[in-house]
Amino acid sequence: MINIGVLISGRGSNLQAIIDSVEKGEVLAKVALVISNKPEAYGLERAKKHRIPTAVFEPDNFTNKNDYESEIVKALKENKVDLVCLAGYMRIVGHVLLDAYKGKTINIHPALLPAFPGPHGSKQALDYGAKISGVTVHFVDEGCDTGPIILQQAVPVLEGDTEEALSARILEEEHKIYPQAIRLFAEGRLRIEGRKVKIM
Ligand code: GAR
Repeated sequence: MINIGVLISGRGSNLQAIIDSVEKGEVLAKVALVISNKPEAYGLERAKKHRIPTAVFEPDNFTNKNDYESEIVKALKENKVDLVCLAGYMRIVGHVLLDAYKGKTINIHPALLPAFPGPHGSKQALDYGAKISGVTVHFVDEGCDTGPIILQQAVPVLEGDTEEALSARILEEEHKIYPQAIRLFAEGRLRIEGRKVKIM
Protein backbone atom coordinates (compact mmCIF):
# COMPACT_ATOMS: atom_id res chain seq x y z
CA MET A 1 0.00 0.00 0.00
CA ILE A 2 1.38 3.41 -0.91
CA ASN A 3 1.23 6.63 1.07
CA ILE A 4 -0.11 9.67 -0.76
CA GLY A 5 0.70 13.31 0.00
CA VAL A 6 -1.78 15.78 -1.48
CA LEU A 7 -0.82 19.41 -2.16
CA ILE A 8 -3.69 21.89 -2.36
CA SER A 9 -4.33 25.62 -2.52
CA GLY A 10 -8.09 25.89 -2.07
CA ARG A 11 -11.45 24.13 -2.21
CA GLY A 12 -10.05 20.59 -2.28
CA SER A 13 -12.84 18.80 -4.14
CA ASN A 14 -10.28 16.60 -5.90
CA LEU A 15 -8.72 15.86 -2.51
CA GLN A 16 -12.20 14.79 -1.36
CA ALA A 17 -12.59 12.51 -4.40
CA ILE A 18 -9.23 10.91 -3.57
CA ILE A 19 -10.14 10.45 0.11
CA ASP A 20 -13.52 8.93 -0.85
CA SER A 21 -12.02 6.47 -3.32
CA VAL A 22 -9.45 5.38 -0.72
CA GLU A 23 -12.14 4.95 1.94
CA LYS A 24 -14.27 2.88 -0.48
CA GLY A 25 -11.28 0.63 -1.08
CA GLU A 26 -11.14 1.56 -4.78
CA VAL A 27 -7.54 2.73 -4.41
CA LEU A 28 -5.15 0.73 -2.23
CA ALA A 29 -3.44 3.70 -0.63
CA LYS A 30 -3.47 5.91 2.41
CA VAL A 31 -3.73 9.70 2.32
CA ALA A 32 -0.85 10.29 4.74
CA LEU A 33 -0.58 14.09 4.59
CA VAL A 34 -2.30 17.14 3.10
CA ILE A 35 -0.19 20.24 2.57
CA SER A 36 -1.51 23.68 1.64
CA ASN A 37 0.31 26.85 0.70
CA LYS A 38 -2.71 28.80 1.98
CA PRO A 39 -3.94 28.60 5.60
CA GLU A 40 -7.55 29.36 4.58
CA ALA A 41 -7.79 26.51 2.05
CA TYR A 42 -11.06 24.65 2.63
CA GLY A 43 -9.36 21.39 1.70
CA LEU A 44 -7.61 21.49 5.09
CA GLU A 45 -11.03 21.18 6.80
CA ARG A 46 -11.87 18.21 4.59
CA ALA A 47 -8.63 16.50 5.63
CA LYS A 48 -9.25 17.18 9.32
CA LYS A 49 -12.76 15.66 9.07
CA HIS A 50 -11.09 12.45 7.96
CA ARG A 51 -8.35 12.70 10.62
CA ILE A 52 -5.65 13.16 7.99
CA PRO A 53 -2.57 15.11 9.16
CA THR A 54 -2.24 18.58 7.61
CA ALA A 55 0.52 21.12 7.24
CA VAL A 56 0.60 24.70 5.95
CA PHE A 57 3.70 26.22 4.41
CA GLU A 58 3.34 29.78 3.15
CA PRO A 59 5.94 30.68 0.53
CA ASP A 60 6.16 34.27 1.85
CA ASN A 61 7.56 32.94 5.13
CA PHE A 62 10.63 31.56 3.35
CA THR A 63 13.56 33.42 1.86
CA ASN A 64 13.40 31.48 -1.40
CA LYS A 65 11.60 28.71 -3.27
CA ASN A 66 14.27 26.10 -2.44
CA ASP A 67 13.86 26.62 1.30
CA TYR A 68 10.08 26.52 0.95
CA GLU A 69 10.16 23.26 -0.99
CA SER A 70 12.78 21.73 1.34
CA GLU A 71 10.27 22.05 4.20
CA ILE A 72 7.59 20.42 2.06
CA VAL A 73 9.93 17.53 1.17
CA LYS A 74 10.88 17.13 4.83
CA ALA A 75 7.21 16.83 5.83
CA LEU A 76 6.49 14.41 2.97
CA LYS A 77 9.43 12.21 3.95
CA GLU A 78 8.51 12.29 7.64
CA ASN A 79 5.10 10.95 6.67
CA LYS A 80 6.66 8.33 4.37
CA VAL A 81 4.90 9.67 1.29
CA ASP A 82 5.47 7.64 -1.89
CA LEU A 83 3.33 9.64 -4.33
CA VAL A 84 2.69 13.40 -4.40
CA CYS A 85 -0.65 14.45 -5.89
CA LEU A 86 -1.11 18.08 -6.82
CA ALA A 87 -4.84 18.81 -6.51
CA GLY A 88 -5.57 22.43 -7.32
CA TYR A 89 -2.09 23.38 -6.08
CA MET A 90 -1.60 26.68 -7.85
CA ARG A 91 2.20 26.93 -7.85
CA ILE A 92 4.85 25.78 -10.28
CA VAL A 93 6.82 22.97 -8.67
CA GLY A 94 10.58 23.59 -8.47
CA HIS A 95 13.55 21.27 -8.67
CA VAL A 96 13.82 20.57 -4.92
CA LEU A 97 10.44 18.83 -4.81
CA LEU A 98 10.87 17.27 -8.24
CA ASP A 99 14.34 15.89 -7.44
CA ALA A 100 12.94 14.28 -4.29
CA TYR A 101 9.84 12.90 -6.04
CA LYS A 102 10.93 12.42 -9.65
CA GLY A 103 8.39 10.29 -11.51
CA LYS A 104 6.34 10.30 -8.31
CA THR A 105 4.55 13.63 -8.61
CA ILE A 106 1.30 13.91 -10.57
CA ASN A 107 -1.11 16.73 -11.34
CA ILE A 108 -4.65 17.21 -12.58
CA HIS A 109 -5.42 19.92 -15.10
CA PRO A 110 -8.85 21.06 -16.36
CA ALA A 111 -8.12 20.92 -20.13
CA LEU A 112 -6.84 18.50 -22.75
CA LEU A 113 -3.12 19.23 -22.57
CA PRO A 114 -1.08 20.46 -24.33
CA ALA A 115 -4.01 22.80 -25.02
CA PHE A 116 -4.73 25.51 -22.48
CA PRO A 117 -2.10 25.03 -19.75
CA GLY A 118 -1.85 27.37 -16.74
CA PRO A 119 -4.34 28.52 -14.14
CA HIS A 120 -7.47 29.13 -16.31
CA GLY A 121 -7.93 26.03 -18.46
CA SER A 122 -11.72 26.29 -18.86
CA LYS A 123 -11.75 30.02 -19.58
CA GLN A 124 -9.03 29.62 -22.18
CA ALA A 125 -10.97 26.82 -23.94
CA LEU A 126 -14.13 28.97 -24.01
CA ASP A 127 -12.35 32.13 -25.19
CA TYR A 128 -10.59 30.15 -27.93
CA GLY A 129 -13.89 28.72 -29.18
CA ALA A 130 -12.86 25.09 -28.62
CA LYS A 131 -15.70 22.60 -29.16
CA ILE A 132 -14.13 19.99 -26.92
CA SER A 133 -12.10 20.41 -23.76
CA GLY A 134 -11.59 18.02 -20.89
CA VAL A 135 -9.24 16.90 -18.19
CA THR A 136 -5.68 15.58 -18.03
CA VAL A 137 -3.75 13.75 -15.32
CA HIS A 138 -0.02 13.90 -15.96
CA PHE A 139 3.34 13.42 -14.34
CA VAL A 140 4.88 16.71 -13.28
CA ASP A 141 8.10 17.97 -14.82
CA GLU A 142 9.89 21.35 -14.68
CA GLY A 143 7.42 23.02 -17.06
CA CYS A 144 3.91 24.34 -16.52
CA ASP A 145 1.54 21.42 -17.24
CA THR A 146 4.01 19.83 -19.67
CA GLY A 147 4.80 16.39 -18.20
CA PRO A 148 3.96 12.95 -19.65
CA ILE A 149 0.21 12.30 -19.85
CA ILE A 150 -1.30 9.45 -17.83
CA LEU A 151 -5.05 9.75 -18.54
CA GLN A 152 -7.35 12.16 -20.36
CA GLN A 153 -11.10 12.52 -20.66
CA ALA A 154 -12.86 14.74 -23.19
CA VAL A 155 -15.72 17.05 -22.15
CA PRO A 156 -17.80 18.86 -24.81
CA VAL A 157 -18.06 22.64 -24.76
CA LEU A 158 -21.76 23.44 -25.13
CA GLU A 159 -23.47 26.35 -26.88
CA GLY A 160 -23.85 29.20 -24.35
CA ASP A 161 -21.46 27.64 -21.82
CA THR A 162 -20.12 29.92 -19.10
CA GLU A 163 -16.74 29.36 -17.45
CA GLU A 164 -18.56 28.16 -14.32
CA ALA A 165 -20.77 25.69 -16.21
CA LEU A 166 -17.90 24.22 -18.22
CA SER A 167 -15.63 24.04 -15.14
CA ALA A 168 -18.37 22.21 -13.22
CA ARG A 169 -18.80 19.58 -15.97
CA ILE A 170 -15.04 19.16 -16.23
CA LEU A 171 -14.77 18.86 -12.43
CA GLU A 172 -17.19 15.90 -12.44
CA GLU A 173 -14.79 14.08 -14.75
CA GLU A 174 -11.77 15.16 -12.67
CA HIS A 175 -13.26 13.41 -9.66
CA LYS A 176 -13.45 10.15 -11.62
CA ILE A 177 -10.17 10.27 -13.50
CA TYR A 178 -7.81 11.35 -10.69
CA PRO A 179 -8.56 8.33 -8.45
CA GLN A 180 -8.21 6.09 -11.53
CA ALA A 181 -4.74 7.47 -12.27
CA ILE A 182 -3.69 7.10 -8.62
CA ARG A 183 -4.95 3.54 -8.65
CA LEU A 184 -2.81 2.76 -11.71
CA PHE A 185 0.24 4.24 -9.97
CA ALA A 186 -0.50 2.38 -6.72
CA GLU A 187 -0.76 -0.88 -8.66
CA GLY A 188 2.65 -0.22 -10.25
CA ARG A 189 1.08 -0.14 -13.72
CA LEU A 190 2.56 3.14 -15.02
CA ARG A 191 5.87 3.28 -16.81
CA ILE A 192 7.30 6.55 -18.16
CA GLU A 193 9.05 6.07 -21.51
CA GLY A 194 10.31 9.47 -22.66
CA ARG A 195 7.24 11.64 -23.28
CA LYS A 196 4.89 8.68 -23.10
CA VAL A 197 3.30 6.84 -20.21
CA LYS A 198 2.77 3.15 -20.83
CA ILE A 199 -0.12 1.60 -18.88
CA MET A 200 0.76 -2.01 -18.11
C1 GAR B 1 -9.44 21.86 -10.41
O1 GAR B 1 -10.31 22.14 -11.47
C2 GAR B 1 -8.06 21.55 -10.93
O2 GAR B 1 -8.06 20.81 -12.11
C3 GAR B 1 -7.52 22.93 -11.18
O3 GAR B 1 -7.93 23.66 -10.05
C4 GAR B 1 -9.17 23.12 -9.58
C5 GAR B 1 -9.02 22.80 -8.12
O4 GAR B 1 -10.25 22.38 -7.57
N1 GAR B 1 -6.09 22.95 -11.33
C6 GAR B 1 -5.46 23.72 -12.20
O5 GAR B 1 -6.02 24.55 -12.89
C7 GAR B 1 -3.96 23.49 -12.27
N2 GAR B 1 -3.40 24.15 -13.39
P1 GAR B 1 -10.32 21.62 -6.20
O6 GAR B 1 -9.50 22.45 -5.21
O7 GAR B 1 -11.77 21.61 -5.85
O8 GAR B 1 -9.75 20.25 -6.40
